[in-house]
Amino acid sequence: MTKVAIIGAGPCGLSALRSFEQAEKKGEKIPEIICFDKQEDWGGLWNYSWRTGSDQYGDPVPNSMYRYLWSNGPKECLEFADYSFDEHFGKPIPSFPPREVLYDYILGRVKKGNLKDKIRFNTSITNVTYDGNSFEVTYRDKKDDKISKDIFDYVIVSTGHFSVPFIPEYSGMKSFPGRIMHSHDFRDAEEFRNKNVIVLGSSYSAEDVALQCHKYGAKSVTIGYRHNPMGFKWPKEMKEVFHLDRLEGNKAIFKDGHEQEADAIILCTGYLHHFPFLSEDLKLKTGNRLYPPMLYKGVLWQNNHKLMYLGMQDQFHTFNMFDCQAWFARDVIMGKIKIPDNSEIEKDINKWVSMEEKLENPDQMIDFQTEYTKELHTLSDYPKIDFELIRKHFKEWEHHKVENIMTYRNKSFSSPVTGSVGPIHHTPWETAMDDSSKAFLNQSKN
Ligand SMILES: Cc1cc2nc3c(=O)[nH]c(=O)nc-3n(C[C@H](O)[C@H](O)[C@H](O)COP(=O)(O)OP(=O)(O)OC[C@H]3O[C@@H](n4cnc5c(N)ncnc54)[C@H](O)[C@@H]3O)c2cc1C
Ligand SMILES: NC(=O)c1ccc[n+]([C@@H]2O[C@H](COP(=O)([O-])OP(=O)(O)OC[C@H]3O[C@@H](n4cnc5c(N)ncnc54)[C@H](OP(=O)(O)O)[C@@H]3O)[C@@H](O)[C@H]2O)c1
Repeated sequence: MTKVAIIGAGPCGLSALRSFEQAEKKGEKIPEIICFDKQEDWGGLWNYSWRTGSDQYGDPVPNSMYRYLWSNGPKECLEFADYSFDEHFGKPIPSFPPREVLYDYILGRVKKGNLKDKIRFNTSITNVTYDGNSFEVTYRDKKDDKISKDIFDYVIVSTGHFSVPFIPEYSGMKSFPGRIMHSHDFRDAEEFRNKNVIVLGSSYSAEDVALQCHKYGAKSVTIGYRHNPMGFKWPKEMKEVFHLDRLEGNKAIFKDGHEQEADAIILCTGYLHHFPFLSEDLKLKTGNRLYPPMLYKGVLWQNNHKLMYLGMQDQFHTFNMFDCQAWFARDVIMGKIKIPDNSEIEKDINKWVSMEEKLENPDQMIDFQTEYTKELHTLSDYPKIDFELIRKHFKEWEHHKVENIMTYRNKSFSSPVTGSVGPIHHTPWETAMDDSSKAFLNQSKN
């Protein structure tokens, strides 16, 4: 019997498990599947951990999520085609839920089956090699500190790529008297109440960590961008300045001459695609981009079609794109999708990579990833979902952010699955301090 290893039980790994489950429900014979996750429970980054550094077994903590994190895009854009928010919550809910609500949703559909039985938790994959015929997968049971090996026909890598921080160094860091941390280790903005905070970066973490610090009472937040500013209309206690030059004592000196006293520096400088467990011939090497090279249809490893990667792209689309990838990978494994010859594969990859390299603005990037996801969708029986509506929502969302970065999360969108419209949340995001599911879902607070 064909044997498949899925590495990681975050949203991507769960999409893969779900895809096989759906085929089995239709009466198809599915391969033997074992999913491994180094955490003690499923949900990937959404399974919040207070821990930073290493866990009780000495293993690096993969989690980068923090308290009070709310979805940064409309939930309607990430909705599963086969499991709507309305079905999970029994009613329409507002469009920008906090982490706990999304975590509950992600797990809702997989909890309905017996998929948990297929997952080995507290198990780190430490080595994967290919001998020309099959994969040898080595794993460590963290609780028993026991190393084992197993042979698989296919490997699906769904280990995420927002877990291993990229940490640059700037002159003066060694003698800075305050705290220096990466957003990977950021857990609670309360820590920075009444503090002067420097945030480095100009992408989603920089934007959200800076806003969190402001929301929870930082005295000032200074964001240092390297190439392009985010350019939002920030509240008066926040500003965006050009590139950190150096630190002198507790003073941050920027390349535009700006100087700011600082109590803490938060490096929102992104993450590394890091796969220390894969042998060199299997290892994806890329930065955070919309079309990493060497992946046919963004999934299949060009040099070995029995190796698949899920969710390795930079992401506008998330959960339903992961599903389309998982359904595609499943159908390749089950022989339902014919893989073209090597020159066709190369041509296809080059086409997408060169299109990606010409993208100039967020609207074009949204179009690019929507087109990619739409194409993938046509290749499997993943249920119908309105990607044109999702495209429209993403663009509207971008414009809401430009209009007012403090209020974009108060807007509402319609579902690409059920058509229902998210109600306006009872409390504007800026003053909603309680991020629990209970508080969020209690619309009667209105
Ligand atoms: C701070 C932050 C906020 C985000 N907010 C949003 C948001 O609001 N909306 C949104 O749609 N997306 C958001 N994202 C994007 C996020 O990437 C996806 O939502 C999603 O979590 C990606 O799923 P994944 O399965 O690829 O990876 P992950 O969620 O990272 O899951 C990977 C899993 O693989 C396991 N693993 C890793 N290495 C090994 C190993 N060697 N052996 C065994 N198991 C291993 C990990 O334990 C983990 O459980 C956010 C990301 C970050 C960092
Ligand atoms: N739900 C939420 O609210 C939320 C919150 C946080 C993160 N997220 C998610 O988390 C994921 C990761 O986002 P991310 O922002 O961490 O990573 P990212 O999108 O890869 O961005 C990395 C940033 O680091 C900057 N950078 C790199 N090296 C630098 C240096 N030496 N000095 C200054 N800046 C440097 C880059 O700047 P250049 O552009 O100049 O290269 C870029 O702005 C995204 O999917 C995002 O959606 C979501």
